[in-house]
Amino acid sequence: MKKVFLNLLKQPITNSYLINKNSSTLKKEFFYNLSIIFNSKNYLVSIKKPVNPKSQYTDTYAHRASQSKTMNLSFKKIANKLKKSYKPKLSMEIGSNDGVFLKNFSKKDIIAVEPCKNLAKITNKKGYFTYDKFWNVDLAKKILKKKGNVDLIYSANTISHIPNLKEVFKAISICLSKDGVFVFEDPYIGSVIKNNSYDQFYDEHVHVFSFIAISNLLKIHKLRVIDTEILTTHGGSIRFYVAKRESKYKISNFVKRIYKQELKKRLDKFSTYKKFSYRVQNSKRKLIKLLKDLKKRNKKIISYGATYKSATIFNYCNIDSDLIDYVIDTTKNKQGKYTPGKHLLIKPPCDLAKEKIDYAFLGAWNFAKEIMKKERKFIRKGGRFITHVPKIRIIK
Ligand code: TMP
Repeated sequence: MKKVFLNLLKQPITNSYLINKNSSTLKKEFFYNLSIIFNSKNYLVSIKKPVNPKSQYTDTYAHRASQSKTMNLSFKKIANKLKKSYKPKLSMEIGSNDGVFLKNFSKKDIIAVEPCKNLAKITNKKGYFTYDKFWNVDLAKKILKKKGNVDLIYSANTISHIPNLKEVFKAISICLSKDGVFVFEDPYIGSVIKNNSYDQFYDEHVHVFSFIAISNLLKIHKLRVIDTEILTTHGGSIRFYVAKRESKYKISNFVKRIYKQELKKRLDKFSTYKKFSYRVQNSKRKLIKLLKDLKKRNKKIISYGATYKSATIFNYCNIDSDLIDYVIDTTKNKQGKYTPGKHLLIKPPCDLAKEKIDYAFLGAWNFAKEIMKKERKFIRKGGRFITHVPKIRIIK
């Protein structure tokens, strides 16, 4: 049975940065209701009514995974680890973005799948063969026919974006070789619950995975999890190593441990998610109060990172330019545009101290360490960061 536990109200498509605030542009802006459900049969947490992927992954898709140093390092590390462990003859990445993972492979050893045509163009230009298509059974059959079985399939922050997981796993089982490994990583529901990071829910995160949910879903396709890792990336992710049931791999001890841990944390119970939703409502009240109090004292507040996650917060908490002056972001094609829904101006990074900024809300809280290091001068001059994870606070 599927039951709603959290209602994050009317939300825009997070990747739709507005080029201006003309009435005709605002009229065209698309909103949907972001309600989150728990499926008590397979334990999957998902958006009740996902947005059509064709309106999300278009040829104007803004996010560039290679923008962050943290992510560059993380992709390099996992690419090297996978090459060493599995020695794949042919590898594939699903959701290759601008090639931040691909670049760790030689061009002849890897193929890519990326439905956003603007991004696929980038990697094709670099010489990495990229299918500008959505991942599905038809594409898997096409790849099998043209290239043969794939030994290593990797995907980061993509599988959770796809509404039909049955199709995803069926397509994987079609082209994965007998002892091939499918490795994917996405935000982890255990971290969301722990950090109160409800901003992990936005249109692209159709599902937020647990181990128990994924192992249930894989069974139907004769696939199984052979290993898992809990990661710090994106504010807490889970990495699954999946192989065919008849493959040579043994199941790691960590898999058994995480299964027990999740049951202990009651990730299989609706009541866990309902309690979380009360904490989210509390977080909203506290954030609004803090920002309003600071504004009353004439403080200048900006948001750091025009993230998709912060779009959920701003729209759920109704935070607009009365509370946050503007947003800064390093991504060139976000700069000069307006955030979806609440229409805050996005500016390039600046000298925060020189601009007399008092507080910066950590929209990109998952990069807190990297940002704090970069903004030492701002902190030294009395500037402060605000975060909502795991609770609303000014970072001292
Ligand atoms: P993400 O959490 O979806 O990866 O998005 C992070 C966003 O934050 C991305 O648009 C880049 C931006 N950002 C900055 O503007 N400055 C920074 O120092 C970092 C790490 C990220």
